[in-house]
Amino acid sequence: MSEQFKCLKCNNTGWILFKDEQGYQIAKPCDCEYGITSTLRRIGIPEKYLKCSFENFKINIPKAIGLKQAKTLLYDYVQLELFKSKKQSFLIKGTVGSGKTHLCAAVVRELVKKGYYNIYFVDFKELLDEIKSTFSYASDLSEADILFPVLNAGLLIIDDLGSERNTEWSEDVFARILNYRYNRDLPVIITTNYFDRQIPNALTEETLEERVGIRMRSRLYEMCRDIEIIAPDFRMLKNKI
Ligand SMILES: Nc1ncnc2c1ncn2[C@@H]1O[C@H](COP(=O)(O)OP(=O)(O)O)[C@@H](O)[C@H]1O
Ligand SMILES: [Mg+2]
Ligand SMILES: [Zn+2]
Repeated sequence: MSEQFKCLKCNNTGWILFKDEQGYQIAKPCDCEYGITSTLRRIGIPEKYLKCSFENFKINIPKAIGLKQAKTLLYDYVQLELFKSKKQSFLIKGTVGSGKTHLCAAVVRELVKKGYYNIYFVDFKELLDEIKSTFSYASDLSEADILFPVLNAGLLIIDDLGSERNTEWSEDVFARILNYRYNRDLPVIITTNYFDRQIPNALTEETLEERVGIRMRSRLYEMCRDIEIIAPDFRMLKNKI
């Protein structure tokens, strides 16, 4: 965004202040880029992905499989508001650097532009670390405080499932989140570097089921539509295309 750009509605703060019927001061996000960016931050989108959109997601990448289908499915999900009507969930399995986090950020950006803010984005490993940090006596937050938005968001995005060290405890946290949301028909979008079969050049030979456990893999089958992307690591390609 150019520094000169001036939003007359929010004065580049991203927020519009107004008084409600009772005279209380309320702030709502502006519909300009400043407002969108501050909302994306609040939802938890990492700094590096704040500018990711469907428009800047390329699909014509040599040797890539599944990019176009992934983009189309997720774009329709937003435009047709399937997250509301069908409570559709997705499991995005993809090789490293194939654009999984970018696509999730694009979904969130598009939803925010439509005025839908009840979304929460977490990196699974970071979530586990945050929960662990509440176990210390010095912590002001409880595990329940951390989990509240994860459990209750209208749409939850769990990025990079499987990147954590798999323990009985991490499986249990994941099971609690999925079961809670499954029972209330709340949609999730989950990304992972793990597949259900051997993929050439994949990160490891370990499958998703081995990684998250058979119980959770079958719950994911029940809940989610699978999306598969096999593509070169975009970080390596960036300067070449
Ligand atoms: N198809 C694509 N078009 C444009 N940029 C992409 C594409 N795929 C990945 N990128 C960019 O490459 C980097 C790595 O993508 P990322 O979404 O982090 O991959 P993953 O989450 O699958 O490991 C990011 O900066 C992202 O914006
Ligand atoms: Mg990622
Ligand atoms: Zn504005």
